[in-house]
Amino acid sequence: MGNKVICVDNNVNKIQNLQKGIIPIYEPGLEELVIKNYKTGRLNFSSNLKYALDQSNIIFICVGTPNKKKSYSADLSQIYKVAKQIRNYIKKFKIIVTKSTVPVTTGDILEKLISQKKSRKLFEVVSNPEFLREGEAIRDFMYPDRIVIGTDKSRVNNILKNLYEPITKRGGKYLDCGTMQGYIKSSFEISKI
Ligand SMILES: NC(=O)c1ccc[n+]([C@@H]2O[C@H](COP(=O)([O-])OP(=O)(O)OC[C@H]3O[C@@H](n4cnc5c(N)ncnc54)[C@H](O)[C@@H]3O)[C@@H](O)[C@H]2O)c1
Repeated sequence: MGNKVICVDNNVNKIQNLQKGIIPIYEPGLEELVIKNYKTGRLNFSSNLKYALDQSNIIFICVGTPNKKKSYSADLSQIYKVAKQIRNYIKKFKIIVTKSTVPVTTGDILEKLISQKKSRKLFEVVSNPEFLREGEAIRDFMYPDRIVIGTDKSRVNNILKNLYEPITKRGGKYLDCGTMQGYIKSSFEISKI
């Protein structure tokens, strides 16, 4: 869609395999898509977080959030760890997006964690949950019925709206705080009737 993307993983073996076109999971059409974009230089793989952060305006956090042992709650240790690593390298303004599946309030915690070391002026944390189904990931990504964005900063919202424009042009709804407030208002009015 015209963006340059660097995928970062601390699993060096995974990164080396991806650079050779070896994909660790099976998704129909993914291998061809990855190889095509890697060859044109739009897609890159690295285990160097500092390098990737320096090159990027928008950071998507996609680390695992498995269930805690013998519990229904999520183990958020990977997301907190990566946020602490990211905060070390922020020099210019960055939009930090949570793509990992996380409970409500995680964004606030990440903001607090990052602001322990970096000025609030240097970053904004945004929620953008993922609804991909296994085996349908590419189709679900290219043709989603909705894209949900949680931020109260209009400048940041406009950047993400622009990023997702190729997808929303195809019919995917862009749901941000403004549209959500509209839905809540209209459902409240309906419930009054
Ligand atoms: N897989 C799906 O179809 C799907 C769909 C919707 C949402 N999600 C959500 O996306 C998130 C990721 O899921 P997944 O299945 O891709 O998980 P995964 O565990 O397969 O992949 C996460 C990757 O993050 C890497 N990682 C962990 N800590 C790191 C760090 N500090 N620095 C760099 N890399 C690090 C791991 O090495 C791993 O390769 C989860 O929150 C999941 O709930 C996944």
